[in-house]
Amino acid sequence: MADLSVTVNGLKMPNPFVIGSGPPGTNANVIGKAFDENWGAVIAKTVSLDASKVTNVAPRYARMRALEGREVIGWQNIELISDRPFEVWEDEFKKIKDKYPDRILIASIMEEFNKDAWTELVERSEACGVDAFELNFSCPHGLPERKMGAAMGQDPDILREVCGWVNAVATTPVWAKMTPNITHIVDPARAALEAGCEGIAAINTILSVMGVNLDTLRPEPTVEGYSVPGGYSCKAVRPIALRMVMELATMMFGGGSGAPISENGSLPIKGEYLDRTLSAIGGVETGEDAAQFILLGAHTVQVCTGVMVHGYKLAGTLCEQLNAFMDKKGFATIEEFRGHSLQYFATHAGLVERQRAVKAAEKAAKAGMVTKDTAWEGDKFVEQSDKLVSNQ
Ligand SMILES: Cc1cc2nc3c(=O)[nH]c(=O)nc-3n(C[C@H](O)[C@H](O)[C@H](O)COP(=O)(O)O)c2cc1C
Repeated sequence: MADLSVTVNGLKMPNPFVIGSGPPGTNANVIGKAFDENWGAVIAKTVSLDASKVTNVAPRYARMRALEGREVIGWQNIELISDRPFEVWEDEFKKIKDKYPDRILIASIMEEFNKDAWTELVERSEACGVDAFELNFSCPHGLPERKMGAAMGQDPDILREVCGWVNAVATTPVWAKMTPNITHIVDPARAALEAGCEGIAAINTILSVMGVNLDTLRPEPTVEGYSVPGGYSCKAVRPIALRMVMELATMMFGGGSGAPISENGSLPIKGEYLDRTLSAIGGVETGEDAAQFILLGAHTVQVCTGVMVHGYKLAGTLCEQLNAFMDKKGFATIEEFRGHSLQYFATHAGLVERQRAVKAAEKAAKAGMVTKDTAWEGDKFVEQSDKLVSNQ
């Protein structure tokens, strides 16, 4: 049996599986259920100081299925952050930490561009015993209208300033959660790390329109006949999340040079933030999905929609499957294979050059030409020498 435990920014977790911010961490009752089912940590639903500004609608989800009535592969939501008063959350944070003192509870927080509000949110949450923060710079709908969430996360300068305010007061680790709705995800992540954040989390949902109902001709999900672009999650987003995690990890921890061999292909890219951590999110439903994110550099792996589809017991299955992968490959700990596959990324020109080199070697071998000194044979020595002469 492999050891699945991880210590991330000093936080000890029994396994790397973290409940991602959203409905699965939306009150003390379900957070307790997550700990009972042995999730490694829980990130609570995002909170702000004034919940009275948050008004949700129903329906607010829409699903994409692989085949009619079959497997759910995509999930869109137009849900906002928590609509429960912060005073209620303070009480629940305390109760959860009283009941589960050794388990990791992370508060997901979000505010407007106001230093005092962010400072108050951090100080009051820490007073309730939360173990760390995730800053939600990534909610794609509703809140950007108030310049919150993704609107902040898309502007590295604003993000740097807000992270600076938070890090000036927080005594616990701070992760910044990135929006995928941006061309270069590395830019805001670097700003957050420069401002002292201990970790990066990625990705939040991808801005989407789920579809148009061909009977009513209205977009989905339809609320009183109208809709709004929402956030896409679940299996379908995993390849995009893997790409963004790969880019973030390469910047933070280093990776393949990405360049053609003829330029500097043997020189790996140096990591800029080896002492920080990365929490991967997006479409994880199996231990094998998680293993792929870890191979691309993730310290922890978050699951949100997967819990909405499969329930809290998914943690047990995820651990079993990750364990089986590690046993099969002979990895005793998560750190033994974290980031292993980053070295195998190159540019397209790098791939073309590698393929040309392999083809040239194959052609030479086929023609019986000696391409390596170990290939010389005593009985065929003269014949082999002849084949290497250019002016036959
Ligand atoms: C219904 C729903 C509500 C969500 N609410 C939040 C939220 O309050 N704060 C946040 O940071 N992310 C929120 N998310 C985003 C998830 O935490 C996660 O980043 C995203 O869904 C991708 O992961 P997944 O495919 O495992 O769901 C929400 C996602 C869903 C599906």
